[in-house]
Amino acid sequence: MLRVEGLSAGYGAVQVLRGVGFEARAGEVTCIMGRNGAGKTTLMRAVMGLLPALAGEVRLDGRKVSDLPAHQVPKEGIGYVPQGRRLFGPLSVAENLQIGLLTRGRGAAVRDHVLSLFPRLRERLDQTSATLSGGEQQMLAIARALCLEPKVLLLDEPTEGLQPSMIGLIREVVMGLKAEGVAVVLVEQKVEAVLRMADQVVFLDRGEVAEVQPVAALRADPRPFRDHVGV
Ligand SMILES: Nc1ncnc2c1ncn2[C@@H]1O[C@H](COP(=O)(O)OP(=O)(O)OP(=O)(O)O)[C@@H](O)[C@H]1O
Ligand SMILES: [Mg+2]
Repeated sequence: MLRVEGLSAGYGAVQVLRGVGFEARAGEVTCIMGRNGAGKTTLMRAVMGLLPALAGEVRLDGRKVSDLPAHQVPKEGIGYVPQGRRLFGPLSVAENLQIGLLTRGRGAAVRDHVLSLFPRLRERLDQTSATLSGGEQQMLAIARALCLEPKVLLLDEPTEGLQPSMIGLIREVVMGLKAEGVAVVLVEQKVEAVLRMADQVVFLDRGEVAEVQPVAALRADPRPFRDHVGV
C-alpha cells in the first residue's frame, strides 16, 4: 500500500531523516515510535510532500507520490492529521468537512458516515471551529481527513493531551479504519496503546529506522521500547 524507501529530508541545511524505509499495509496499523526529536513529525511531513525529499521515494500502490506537489498528495488518497491542531479557524465545522469532501470529490454519504463516528460534530456543524474544545478540534481534524476516504491515514500523536473518553473514541475510530482496510500510520508514544493497536512498530532513532518489529515480537520481548523510546 504505502511504501517509503530510502527517504531523506530535513530543514534547510539540517538533515533530519536519513534513508528511512518501511511499508504500511492495508488493514494494518503501523506505529512510529521514537524519542522527542527523533524525526517522527518530520517523517509524516516528508511523506505528505510538505518537505522535499533529498533522496528516496514514497509510493502508494506502486505509484510514486514523492514527485507530486504537496496539494496533490491528499487527492491520491493519503490523509494526514498533523500533531497539535491546525484547522481553518474562522470556518465552521461543516465548512471544514466540505474542504475534505471536495479534495477527492466525495459527497453526502461519506459525510454522513464520518459524522456517525463523531456525533458531537454533528451537533456543532455551524459552530466556528476555533471555538471547539481541544478534543473536539482533534475530532474535526480526523473527521476532515476521513472525508477523503483515505487509503492511507497518517495520524501524528492524535490523543496527545486529551481526556480518557476522547482517547477511547479516537482509538475506536482507528480500529474501525483498520477493519475497513485503511493503512493507518500512527505516531504514538504510549506503549500499552501501541501493543493494543499496532500490527508493526517502526522505531526511529535520530532520523534513522533502528528496527521494525511485528507487535507479537514486542509482546514477547519489549526491549526495543527501552532502547529507542526510553520507557
Ligand atoms: N521547522 C523546523 N526547522 C528546523 N528544524 C526543525 C523544524 N521542525 C523540526 N525540526 C528539527 O527536526 C528534528 C526532528 O523533529 P520532529 O518534530 O520531527 O521530531 P518528533 O520525533 O516528531 O518529536 P516529538 O516527539 O517531540 O513530536 C528536531 O531536531 C527538530 O528540532
Ligand atoms: Mg512530533
